[in-house]
Amino acid sequence: MKKAEIGLVGLAVMGENLVMNMESKGFTVAVFNRTAERVEKFVSGRAAGKHVIGCCSLEDLVANLEKPRKVFLMVKAGQAVDGMIEQLLPLLENGDIIIDGGNSHFPDTIRRTQYVESRGKLYVGTGVSGGEEGALKGPSMMPGGSPAAWPYVKPIFQKICAKVEDGSACCDWVGENGAGHFVKMVHNGIEYGDMQLICEAYQLMRDLLGLSDGEMHQVFKEWNETELDSYLIEITRDILAYQDTDGTPMVEKILDTAGQKGTGKWTGIAALNEGVPLTLIGEAVFARCLSAMKDNRVEAARAYQRVIPAFDGNKAEMIEAIRQALYASKIISYAQGYTLMRTAAKTYGWNLNYGGIALMWRGGCIIRSVFLGKIKDAYDRNPNLNNLLLDPYFRETIAKLIPAWRKAAAAAMQYGIPAPAMTSALSYFDGYTTERLPANLLQAQRDYFGAHTYERLDRPRGEFFHTNWTGRGGDTAAGAYNA
Ligand code: 2AM
Repeated sequence: MKKAEIGLVGLAVMGENLVMNMESKGFTVAVFNRTAERVEKFVSGRAAGKHVIGCCSLEDLVANLEKPRKVFLMVKAGQAVDGMIEQLLPLLENGDIIIDGGNSHFPDTIRRTQYVESRGKLYVGTGVSGGEEGALKGPSMMPGGSPAAWPYVKPIFQKICAKVEDGSACCDWVGENGAGHFVKMVHNGIEYGDMQLICEAYQLMRDLLGLSDGEMHQVFKEWNETELDSYLIEITRDILAYQDTDGTPMVEKILDTAGQKGTGKWTGIAALNEGVPLTLIGEAVFARCLSAMKDNRVEAARAYQRVIPAFDGNKAEMIEAIRQALYASKIISYAQGYTLMRTAAKTYGWNLNYGGIALMWRGGCIIRSVFLGKIKDAYDRNPNLNNLLLDPYFRETIAKLIPAWRKAAAAAMQYGIPAPAMTSALSYFDGYTTERLPANLLQAQRDYFGAHTYERLDRPRGEFFHTNWTGRGGDTAAGAYNA
């Protein structure tokens, strides 16, 4: 029997769908699962009659693979991946490739790449986005790891991944060791931000403008024909039109407490570690946390009895202002996410292809949108672009959006509708475009109480000064204590 081009371990729904996808593109796939019944059920069910080889052990799987062997792990992130690597290493030959397609945290992937390479094998940690449907029909894939593995996995990955209209693959080499999983993590963080912005727009329309779900369905339908054209706007449109059996909107029956699996939190932690202001994603994570405090919120709502004043402006104009505010905030979110990737790339020595990342996200994944094409264009114009906000297209776009953005954000503040992502994005923008921030005062405070020293506007950078603010302290700067 013909050997398989690739093996896959972990036949939960994502794993199964990836196998079906690969098989449909002409690849023969050998499969294995810890619980053997799942292999049996799969090969005699969905995969019956397909080029799928069911294997009863890892030895069997390895024996059925073409060399260099490629073993795609689609098992639970964490210990299970380390366990599988340990079991596979003695069965593989030098140059064989282990691929982790799960949602692994990038520091684990950095560590595993180093470990697997030290044992003479190659490692790929790849982000796979697009959910179950993406896995089946074409996910966005973000591979990183051992560069020597890329030529071997490229033909498979680029065949099974999503494609954009011009046929470009939503998969390219991201970078060394944990780069692929890092970029996938940032993708998920951006997804948190995009979702939160849509939710804030929805709440403003519902609670400030008094729109019905049917009316909001229409608004999102129209928005999806604008620059906001994206998967998340599209599903929001459809969700708002979905009625329960009693004919009322389903979404209004859902408890308002958000869950999270942690990738948004990881992105926020990475940003704090790198010292990058990732405010919009941070707010999106915290907004989920706040939503989860339902009992507390109910109590506080009763304690304060806040009443939202009746809206006395022009509704149609405010809807358009909210749309523009959403778009402007979204640009801020991506600018912040890209800054995080640029900064982490320096820390970890990755040579990231920023335009390529936009293209990988352009199709297949949850944040897919027409907008990502604009980001790709910006990095094609200038691969070393320091910040998306400095690209001429985005500069002009934001400049046009500012009045409406301020109007929507101000209305949220004035009427008392929470819009943390939209308003903090505006504060970030105002801070980023302010030449002189009040940090001079902050440095003075630090020097006052802790002799932390400051630099001066009228002296070269790198010279540090200390003032004896009270006349009581000494002239010794805190830095001197560390000498
Ligand atoms: P199972 O069917 O034997 O539970 C998602 O949970 C996938 O990861 C499933 O295919 C599951 O296998 C697999 N998985 C979870 N933990 C594992 C482990 N420690 N070793 C191997 N596979 C594991």
